[in-house]
This record gives sequence, structure tokens and C-alpha cells, in this order.
Amino acid sequence: MSVTRAKLRFADLEVEFVDRDRGIKQVYEFAERGTWHPVVVFGPEGCGKSAWLRQAAEILKEMEFDVIYIDPLRKEFATHTSIEEVVSRFSEAIANATGFTPLKLADLVVYLANQLLKKWKRKRIALLVDEVFQAIGLDRAEAYVKALLNTIEYPPEPYEKIVIIAATSEGFSRWRIGRHRWAWIMPMWNMSKKGFEELYNRISKRVSSPIPDLDTVWKLTGGNPDMLALLYRAKWNIDKVVEVIAKSKGITKDFVKKWHQHLAEVVEDPDALMEKDFSKQFRNELIEKNLVVYDLYSRDPELWVDEPPPEKDPELGVGKYVAWQTPLHREAVKRVIKEL
Ligand SMILES: Nc1ncnc2c1ncn2[C@@H]1O[C@H](COP(=O)(O)OP(=O)(O)OP(=O)(O)O)[C@@H](O)[C@H]1O
Ligand SMILES: [Mg+2]
Repeated sequence: MSVTRAKLRFADLEVEFVDRDRGIKQVYEFAERGTWHPVVVFGPEGCGKSAWLRQAAEILKEMEFDVIYIDPLRKEFATHTSIEEVVSRFSEAIANATGFTPLKLADLVVYLANQLLKKWKRKRIALLVDEVFQAIGLDRAEAYVKALLNTIEYPPEPYEKIVIIAATSEGFSRWRIGRHRWAWIMPMWNMSKKGFEELYNRISKRVSSPIPDLDTVWKLTGGNPDMLALLYRAKWNIDKVVEVIAKSKGITKDFVKKWHQHLAEVVEDPDALMEKDFSKQFRNELIEKNLVVYDLYSRDPELWVDEPPPEKDPELGVGKYVAWQTPLHREAVKRVIKEL
């Protein structure tokens, strides 16, 4: 079956959603069975979670779901529903810059989902909530997931199928939510080499200036499409990108000085963070700064959205249990270590 590809922003370009064949198949499976728990997807920043959610919206629309996609933090939404009121409620809420906090927007999703079932008697609904835990705060994450679960378990009216997916790059939310059995937690990784190559080819066709070869870009990004966008925006100036990452992630001299020896070991082998007896504070800082993904799931494809990362790839900074979000993140740390 051919699938309509979502149109996405990529720096200043518009691209079609590429690859992620397995991730697409999984959305069809969710649509057929419904998600009996909210699915919470976590993964490195910029790995393509939002893009996949937007692709999911297209698929679910074709499967005759009433779809609500919302990113409360960035105040973006997309709906596929014949119920005008749902669309206008979101438009108004988004336009009301002061009155509608991200938290209220997140709550509005739950309210309107229940209204879709109760008032409008819709039978197939899909809620796709992006970066919601950053938007509402980690303290509210559990209650929010419980509210989503209640929509599935105690609906105001019987339904055929409900699909609920929430995405997050917040490093700690998975553990907070994982304490309860309220969600089905699934990791997602950067793009596979094949998928990344496809995206790279599409981008390189559209730029007039020469760009580094695929292998170089793969080794820098580890398949992270946002890092590709960052390199593209910086006109492939790697030093500039590394500096931007160091600044935005708080990889300061003080931070590196404080953990110098530990960091040097984790740069060499990310699994050191799991296997050695480093302080908890050091580990938490690396997770909090979104530099690494800690305690990776086994590579059983059933557990992952789309393709799991390799079992181990030292060149990309992927260990068995811990991985640098991208090689560029590792490089940013490496450079500050060298400067000291
Ligand atoms: N499969 C894909 N095909 C084409 N473009 C993609 C794909 N996946 C991601 N992109 C593009 O790469 C960039 C980063 O992806 P996206 O914003 O989806 O990542 P994310 O995981 O949601 O990031 P964040 O953690 O910052 O929210 C975006 O410009 C997006 O449009
Ligand atoms: Mg996102």
C-alpha cells in the first residue's frame, strides 16, 4: 500500500518524510489494534520523533481516524476531523498567546478527545502529543499519562479504536512514567544508514554549493536528521556546529573541569557510564543535558520504533548500554577537554 508522505520542514527547505519503513508499518499496526496503553516514545533530540508523529497523523487520517496532533511547547497543531469545533478550539487556543499555556493546551487535547467520543460519537480517534513532558513539566507527566490512559480505559462512550502516542526527548520522563504501568514506553533512534542516505541525497540535490560526502556526514551525525539540518544551515562548517552544540548543551569549561577524568572515559567508551562506579550526579548531568541516552533497551526490534541502533558502534559513540546522542555531541565534549 502506498502511503502519503508528510511534508516536513527541514531548515529552510520542505522535504517529504523519507524512509522509516518499519516505523510506518508500526503505525498501521497501532491503527489496526489500537494502543491499549498510551505509547510514550523517547529518543535523542532531533532523531525524528516529531517527523514520525506527523507521518503517523497522515496514516491515521487515511485509516479514517479523527486525528489531533499537537506540540504544546511550540504551539503547533494539526487536526484531521470533520468536527469544526475541535479545529476552532485549537486555533483559538493557539492564537490566544497569553491565556493558553502549554499546560492548558495539553489538557485541551484530553478534553476534546473525550468530547469527540461523547458529544460527537466518533469511533476512531488518535491523539499525537509531541514534547508534552517538557511542556507541562516533569512533575505533571505521570498524572497526564494517567489521564490519557483513562480516555482509553474509561471512555465516556464505546469506541472502535483509540491510538495515543506521546513523544519526548526529556531524558528522565521515561523513568518517571515507567514507575507505573500506565504507558507502553518505546525508544526511537536516529535514522538508519539507508534512510539517512536517502535524506542526504534529497538535500544534496537541492543545494548548489559542494557538500561533504555521505560517509563524512554519517560519521558526524550518526544519522540524526537535525544534526544534518544544523550542518546544512552552518554551510557545513563543522567547527561552528560543534561550538553551537557546546553552547546550547552547557558544555562549559567548568562542567568539563569538574568531571574531566570521567568524561575522558565516557568519550572513549560510553558504556563506562554504566559499568564504572561514577557518581550519580555525573550520570544525571549527562542525561539532563541530553548528551547521552542511558540504559538503552536491548536491540530486539519489537521494543523499538523503527530500526534499533547497532548493538555497538564505537565510531558513532553507541555502546551496548549507553550512547552519545550523536557523534557531534561527543565531539563537542572532546574539544573542550582538549582546550583545557
Ligand atoms: N524521516 C524523515 N524524513 C525527512 N525529514 C525528516 C525525517 N525525520 C526527521 N526529519 C527532519 O529532521 C529534523 C529533525 O526531526 P524532528 O524535529 O522530527 O526530530 P525530533 O526528534 O522531534 O526532535 P526534538 O527532540 O528536537 O523534538 C526536522 O527538520 C525534520 O523535519
Ligand atoms: Mg520534536
